[in-house]
Amino acid sequence: MNHTPATAPVPAPAPAPPRVTVEDALRSRRSVRAFLPTPVPRSTVERLLTLAARSASNSNCQPWQVHVVTGAAKRSLTADLLRAHANGDGRGRDYEYQPEQDAWREPFRSRRRRFGEGLYRDTLGIGADDIGARLDHHRRNYDFFGAPVGIILTTSRHPLQSALVDAGLFLQALMLASRADGLDTCPQASLIDFSPVLRRRLLIPDDQLIVCGLALGYADPAHRLNRLRTPREPVGSFATFHGDEAE
Ligand SMILES: Cc1cc2nc3c(=O)[nH]c(=O)nc-3n(C[C@H](O)[C@H](O)[C@H](O)COP(=O)(O)O)c2cc1C
Repeated sequence: MNHTPATAPVPAPAPAPPRVTVEDALRSRRSVRAFLPTPVPRSTVERLLTLAARSASNSNCQPWQVHVVTGAAKRSLTADLLRAHANGDGRGRDYEYQPEQDAWREPFRSRRRRFGEGLYRDTLGIGADDIGARLDHHRRNYDFFGAPVGIILTTSRHPLQSALVDAGLFLQALMLASRADGLDTCPQASLIDFSPVLRRRLLIPDDQLIVCGLALGYADPAHRLNRLRTPREPVGSFATFHGDEAE
């Protein structure tokens, strides 16, 4: 008689993520605004955060903090944000991320207009005057565009300037590390319009400045929103080389 206890079937290992170079990650990163519901394991999120925390920071201060929301916590946060958006309460930002609509200067004003046309008119087919449809799209930010993982990035208020730079480096590293696992992201400053809501729901202490959100998950390849591609200015438009031609 065989007394060997029955063992549970061993689950198939997750497929190995594709090996990508830094150049691959930089070239393939883009803001994804429609995600599949496929969950991202917590161990994966922790590994990505470990990698992002390798970022450089002022005197290695590492001033960043993150709040990761999934499942019921994410649904509650989304409900709070949508309610605040509908009621017009709970508004407030910890810092002025961008100028008001009319205060943008060139060349950023034009680049911003071109981006808006690419997103709303060319990708979504929404006219400039269709405020309702624009708002419908904007509201998708509050659900992290359907991503299974939402991240709120905060940084120390003291010293603020370097902590903001350092948080930006952390954000970029997190987005690039995600690409190596076949994951996509969208940074989200729109969430910070309701910073008091985020602070209350996630118990963010006052000495932390809320920088932005980040949607994290697997891109929905069939969604038209993910067809958007953004151009870049050539190196000659932003780089000045000082030195000999031959160097
Ligand atoms: C800090 C930050 C905040 C952003 N906030 C939003 C946002 O709230 N909603 C959104 O759809 N895109 C947001 N974006 C994405 C930008 O629109 C996007 O990065 C830019 O158009 C360039 O496109 P790409 O990321 O696809 O290369 C944000 C980007 C950054 C860096």
